[in-house]
Amino acid sequence: MRLEKAVNIEDLHKMSKRYLPRAVFDFVEGGCEDEIGIAHNETAFAAYRLIPRYLVDIRERSHETSLFGRTYSLPFGIAPTGGVGLARRGMECMQAAEAAAANIPFILSGASNSSIEETFKHAPQHMWYQLYASKELKDSEDMIRRAKDVGVGTLVITVDTPLRSRRERNIRNGFTSPRSMGLGTMLEAATHPGWLLEYLRCGGEPYHETWRAYVKAGASAYEVSTYVSQHLLPPQSWDEIHRLRQQWPGKFVIKGIMSPADALKAIEIGTDGIVISNHGGRQLDRAPSSIEMLPIIKAAVGDRLTLMLDSGVRRGSDIVIALCLGAEYVFTGRATLYGGIAGGRPGVKKAIDILRAELDAVMGQIGAPTIASLGPDFVRSPSSGQ
Ligand SMILES: Cc1cc2nc3c(=O)[nH]c(=O)nc-3n(C[C@H](O)[C@H](O)[C@H](O)COP(=O)(O)O)c2cc1C
Repeated sequence: MRLEKAVNIEDLHKMSKRYLPRAVFDFVEGGCEDEIGIAHNETAFAAYRLIPRYLVDIRERSHETSLFGRTYSLPFGIAPTGGVGLARRGMECMQAAEAAAANIPFILSGASNSSIEETFKHAPQHMWYQLYASKELKDSEDMIRRAKDVGVGTLVITVDTPLRSRRERNIRNGFTSPRSMGLGTMLEAATHPGWLLEYLRCGGEPYHETWRAYVKAGASAYEVSTYVSQHLLPPQSWDEIHRLRQQWPGKFVIKGIMSPADALKAIEIGTDGIVISNHGGRQLDRAPSSIEMLPIIKAAVGDRLTLMLDSGVRRGSDIVIALCLGAEYVFTGRATLYGGIAGGRPGVKKAIDILRAELDAVMGQIGAPTIASLGPDFVRSPSSGQ
């Protein structure tokens, strides 16, 4: 299928599957253990119904919304995804550039391939930075300094990775950290010539460019990934997150909160916002979906914390449901990645365009011409019975 023919995110998903070697696709696609969590993220959204209101003037519709004092053109942005330069070279820069063009936020992963400095050039007004702390405190402090120095305004700390989860696809494919492309993967890759040519043309494994500064000069991409995998995911505590909050002058977001008690803790340490997220089903297979936790967390925190959400968003209607239930903003992980994998930068644009068009259609259909007009009255939740 050609990119122009893609009608929905599922089309981009299928195109990504064709483009990538199996091991790389599995890395993007996979969750942990039985992947119940991934399936649940999508079925949980599908269980909600939207109740339309008719005879409303919807001729002019706006998707603009404000977040942390800024107006964005759409109520969704791009979530951080690490190591995705292997799927498409320059993925983060393409996502950043398209986020800037669409006037939406892009969160650069702390395990990205492109560096903080390079990626920021593509989205100087729109890039947030997600820190993955290093076991070397000075590395973490330096990454924060680098983000601050280039002009990043919002720091995101991911807390739902207390350890490396058991992603069985990766274990089976021999695709564990540090990642390396084994012989089997390379042989299978020969059946995905587009990807393979790009891989060879670019000299093999992409570097983790941000972390390269902390490894000896002249280190190979594999040596840098080894360093990253040995230093990523140090033990974290609320005290440390509090210290980071105090050091960071801008907006401070915690990503991966799933319990109302942790949301209340986040308020205590002065957090500006949280992303309710189960990491797209990649960390705890039996975690609830973020959409089912959203109303519970909203009830606990009220307006004291900006609530954002990701995990399982594949349709404009998912975004509408999340906004109706109290999320101020929504992020997409795989949906926008599928676009980038399927078609490079135009593919990222395509994914954003698809979600925008679906969002617009659903808002028009339910009689909600603005984001501010969305609210819980539009939603029939699974718990309301038949
Ligand atoms: C390939 C991949 C890599 C990811 N890497 C990171 C990461 O480096 N940091 C992080 O906070 N979340 C990471 N995530 C989780 C996403 O930020 C997001 O929470 C998740 O993808 C949302 O679910 P969705 O894919 O169903 O939209 C990753 C997700 C994927 C699919």
